[in-house]
Amino acid sequence: MSYTEGMLKEGALKGKTIVVTGGGTGLGKSMGLYFLKLGANLVITSRKLDVLQETAKEMERETGGKVLAVACDVRDIEQVETMFDEADALFGKVDGVLNNAAGNFISPTERLSTNAFNTVIDIVLKGTANVTMVAGKRWIAAKQPGTFLNIVTTYAWTGSGYVVPSAAAKAGVLAMTRSLAVEWAKYKIRSNAIAPGPFPTEGAWSRLLPGDLVKKFDPAKKVPVGRVGEHQELANLAAYLMSDYSAYVNGEVVTIDGGEWLQGAGEFNNLEAIPQEMWDMLEASREKKQ
Ligand code: COA
Repeated sequence: MSYTEGMLKEGALKGKTIVVTGGGTGLGKSMGLYFLKLGANLVITSRKLDVLQETAKEMERETGGKVLAVACDVRDIEQVETMFDEADALFGKVDGVLNNAAGNFISPTERLSTNAFNTVIDIVLKGTANVTMVAGKRWIAAKQPGTFLNIVTTYAWTGSGYVVPSAAAKAGVLAMTRSLAVEWAKYKIRSNAIAPGPFPTEGAWSRLLPGDLVKKFDPAKKVPVGRVGEHQELANLAAYLMSDYSAYVNGEVVTIDGGEWLQGAGEFNNLEAIPQEMWDMLEASREKKQ
């Protein structure tokens, strides 16, 4: 048994159709692939149709499952409606939505243009709202249950310098997750979130830590368990929260970061830097006094 292995029973998502925004690459692709392996039909969306089609073919070859690739900029409500129309037309209905599409870049906040700030808010907060509203209204009208799973981040509650539009937007997504968990529970719609710590991906890592920054600020060094995350670990959690096994989990945000955000929060955590010999000396002087 290892954390790099799939965790759920075969067929755990059989009969479900799941939309994954930002599903063509990175973590969205890894989570989508696992949903597919567990028997789900998959709809993957992003702005890049060629990337999506390539991913869809690769996923279908690997699993024998069915994947619909639809170009959809989550900022454009008409594209979101059309994406759900296409999903309904092919699969009959959608059962789950993984709001994973995001946009982010590092910058001192005073250097950001208004358009830069707005762009991240438009993708992360308003884009997630667009997809959520379209799916939610359809589920409510059809009296059909549904599951939302939103990818946030640990700085959604702490905030973080240098990614301020993303922090503000993700905090909004977290508030929306918890609000709708209560308001839409009566329609059998659940809403949960995952806050991942560092999980290496080609796209986000090179964008957020360009060039030598990734060596200088090696994210693994900030993680108490001493390593970064494996995609399968995140996929296991996402599949559980998307499946009916988590039917009683609603309004939760699950952190999966090896303890990273708490490492920065605990007042005395930096005592990690004290060598064993110094602890030995402190202990010895304490014993002498007694
Ligand atoms: N630093 C500061 N400002 C930046 C920037 C950066 N690294 N990258 C883009 N911007 C600014 C642009 O200059 C522009 O503002 P301006 O019109 O005042 O010059 C604004 O942001 C919009 O940029 P644009 O490239 O037109 O937006 P887009 O919609 O094509 O792209 C982004 C969206 C900016 C988020 C782009 O980085 C992207 O598509 N990323 C892919 C998804 C992603 O980031 N995922 C992250 C996962 S953590």
